[in-house]
Amino acid sequence: MRLFYGLLKQPLLKQIERYSRFSPSPLSIKQFLDFGRDACEKTSFVFLRKELPVRLASTAREVGLLPDKLLHHPSVNLVRNGYLQSFLELLEYENKSPEDPQVLVNFLQVLINIRNRHNDVAPMIAQGVIEYKEKFGFDPFTSSNIQYFLDRFYINRISFRMLINQHTLLFGGDINPAHPKHIGSIDPTCNVADVVRDAYEKAKMLCEQYYLVAPELKIEEFNAQALDKPIQVVYVPSHLFHMLFELFKNSMRATVELYEGRKEGCPAIKTLVTLGQEDLSIKISDQGGGVPLRKIDRLFNYMYSTAPRPSLESRRAAPLAGFGYGLPICRLYARYFQGDLKLYSMEGMGTDTIIYLKALSSESFERLPVFNKSACRHYKTASEADDWSNPSSEARDASKYKGQDKDQ
Ligand SMILES: Nc1ncnc2c1ncn2[C@@H]1O[C@H](COP(=O)(O)OP(=O)(O)OP(=O)(O)O)[C@@H](O)[C@H]1O
Ligand SMILES: [Mg+2]
Repeated sequence: MRLFYGLLKQPLLKQIERYSRFSPSPLSIKQFLDFGRDACEKTSFVFLRKELPVRLASTAREVGLLPDKLLHHPSVNLVRNGYLQSFLELLEYENKSPEDPQVLVNFLQVLINIRNRHNDVAPMIAQGVIEYKEKFGFDPFTSSNIQYFLDRFYINRISFRMLINQHTLLFGGDINPAHPKHIGSIDPTCNVADVVRDAYEKAKMLCEQYYLVAPELKIEEFNAQALDKPIQVVYVPSHLFHMLFELFKNSMRATVELYEGRKEGCPAIKTLVTLGQEDLSIKISDQGGGVPLRKIDRLFNYMYSTAPRPSLESRRAAPLAGFGYGLPICRLYARYFQGDLKLYSMEGMGTDTIIYLKALSSESFERLPVFNKSACRHYKTASEADDWSNPSSEARDASKYKGQDKDQ
């Protein structure tokens, strides 16, 4: 593999540089839908053979800006080689004719191979980052760079898979009989409360396996657009499911651990789904004891978890929490189509997490990282000294005089 890239290195790097200079073309859910309803495989082929390498090239260049020691970690290196290989495979189609049916058949297979190749990217990168941190530690500069990189890397990956899935679902001939109305991975009439219930049930099953109990679910809806109608959205149900499942796991873990050994049963997890003119919002409220304000920001750091870390090697039954990727990845899914995810907590009581989605599919444009000078600057410029007094460090200094350090 090394020799293979060694031989190709120069032209390959040039091609990556060339493609990374193009800006990606973000699509809205409406555009995905309109295209999918009247799908033309040739048009999709011509779009993807340029768009996929553009998105791959910008990620490949950004990976190159990571700290050297992380870049040369075997699992990160493997991911990087996988990206280069996929880029090369796509490049083969640069000049092939869309009129040749065999080209289209082969291209579809290449997309499936690429998707499979990148299946395990998230745990592989996680492993590299964990081992790097254990060996070399993180200074604040490296830590914020890695956070910045991972947000962009994973959102790009979400987008990449979205494009591939649309093509393979629309033209692969494998129409899902359970969802004949879906356009690729998009449900034009996605009933939000149904997805809430599905995600809750799956999280409940895990929770009961692990803790033997699980909190109940209460759902309320408020449709400000049509009071007595169920709330529907044009969305990718698997993305919504993923977010809700992660949030339910978090809320269940917090609630069950707080109520462990108490006589009274666990309080239910409440979900409120609302639809306004602009936003569709889903609030998940638990009474799991909450998180102090001081720690809220770090919940979105990759690798911040208060759970014991699961083993990377063994693939035992998935526990309810582990790597600390749940919240940051959920937020990326929400942001991917111009939504967001916010977490509000009242320590001692519980947590409200709100997923915001765009109510209109014509406004749900992909949010994609762009590789440019300002992105590069992020990796090179250390943040300046804090220009506000920092009570926590002052408190620490003061506590030193008393011979104690309480901060943790
Ligand atoms: N609803 C909640 N109530 C209390 N603490 C929470 C809640 N949600 C998240 N947390 C805290 O935030 C941390 C990070 O959550 P996150 O979902 O990112 O990772 P995790 O659950 O630890 O692992 P995983 O990657 O499996 O999701 C948790 O370990 C937990 O301490
Ligand atoms: Mg979690």
